[in-house]
Amino acid sequence: MSTPDPAQVPIPKAHSAQGRSISKLLLIAGGSTLIYALLAMLMGVLPGFALSNIPPGPGVEPLTPLQAEGREVYVANGCSYCHTQQVRPLAQDKIFGRPSAPGDFAYQTPELLGSERTGPDLTNIGVRQPSEVWQYIHLYNPRAVVAESVMPSFDWMFNVVDIAPPGVTTVPVPKPFAPANGVVVPSRQAQALLAYLQSLKQPKLPSPAGQPIDMATAAAPASNAPTTRAAAPAEPATVASNAAQGAALFVSHCAACHQASGEGMAGVFPPLKGNAVVNDADPTQHIQVVLHGLSGANVGGVVYGSAMPPFADALSDAEVAAIINHERMSWGNHGAPVTTKQVAGAREKKK
Ligand code: HEC
Ligand code: HEC
Repeated sequence: MSTPDPAQVPIPKAHSAQGRSISKLLLIAGGSTLIYALLAMLMGVLPGFALSNIPPGPGVEPLTPLQAEGREVYVANGCSYCHTQQVRPLAQDKIFGRPSAPGDFAYQTPELLGSERTGPDLTNIGVRQPSEVWQYIHLYNPRAVVAESVMPSFDWMFNVVDIAPPGVTTVPVPKPFAPANGVVVPSRQAQALLAYLQSLKQPKLPSPAGQPIDMATAAAPASNAPTTRAAAPAEPATVASNAAQGAALFVSHCAACHQASGEGMAGVFPPLKGNAVVNDADPTQHIQVVLHGLSGANVGGVVYGSAMPPFADALSDAEVAAIINHERMSWGNHGAPVTTKQVAGAREKKK
């Protein structure tokens, strides 16, 4: 009665082949899982750690509670589906600001970079469009200020009341877009969203020498677009190119309020067509207004509730001159043209 010593029993051939293929399978599965985990660490997790250690860039500030609330409104309403918050170092992005830097995003988690630009990039919108009144009218109904806009109306963020509560700005919605009765006031949501939009400002990046560099021009040195203020050429080569540049700059910087037709918007933004300052032979006041803005003035018998933003930081002397000349030669206006030198002189005087 002896059972054979198990060590002596030959293992059937089939069994050992199966064992080998199972261990092969384990090797493949385990090996590929290991490689996957390693790559995920290398390409996802480690860069995440490295990037989260990037300190905020100079001048980059955390959001206030109201601005942070506005960011939530921005996310909840899908603004990111149509708007990016990343400026690429490309010539076509120059109009949106300087190229984005990692330090810009230190307080933004998750970043709202976006991937679709149905509407313009908003990285620097707080600088490009600081007007509270414009932003509110535009949110209430984009078509009220940009006739051809495809942006949806966000009018549910506003209330229509008989009398605005104390301390709340009424939104001067132009007649055809305003409700028949009552005044439009921003809800808490709209106020928070506005605070967030106004917080979207790109601080200037310091150069190694400690001097702010104009990244808008540094970004595309090959482009022959107007250069920085310091390096601005005396005058554009021909009057024709000056006029074309002035028209384009007017559309990108002024038409949002004064409209491409120069007719403005009754009671909200004054017309430049037939405007006394624009047609004045002495351009001092005209240059002054474009460089340093204006508020509470009497323009053609009307005192406007909103302010004209200053453009001294955004535009070079040559650009300001080109825009002013566009205004002075368009819509039947007949003001005497100004030179880059006159603008430079007015800028110096203010300093
Ligand atoms: C369906 C796409 C779409 C959505 C969603 C959208 N926008 Fe827009 N937005 C546009 C387009 C197109 C423009 C350009 C025309 C105009 O100014 O209305 C624009 C323009 C703007 C501008 C002016 C930018 C400039 O450079 O003058 C601001 C500010 C803005 N949108 C904010 C918002 C906010 C805030 C939201 C979310 C509440 C939002 N948008 C949602 C399409 C969209
Ligand atoms: C956010 C809206 C807005 C933008 C953008 C804007 N303006 Fe104005 N502008 C105004 C308002 C509002 C006034 C009237 C201010 C007041 O009465 O105090 C005004 C007034 C003016 C005046 C008349 C000054 C006077 O005393 O008669 C001129 C000229 C002018 N703007 C030129 C420009 C030019 C050029 C640009 C572009 C570089 C521009 N504006 C961009 C809102 C704007």
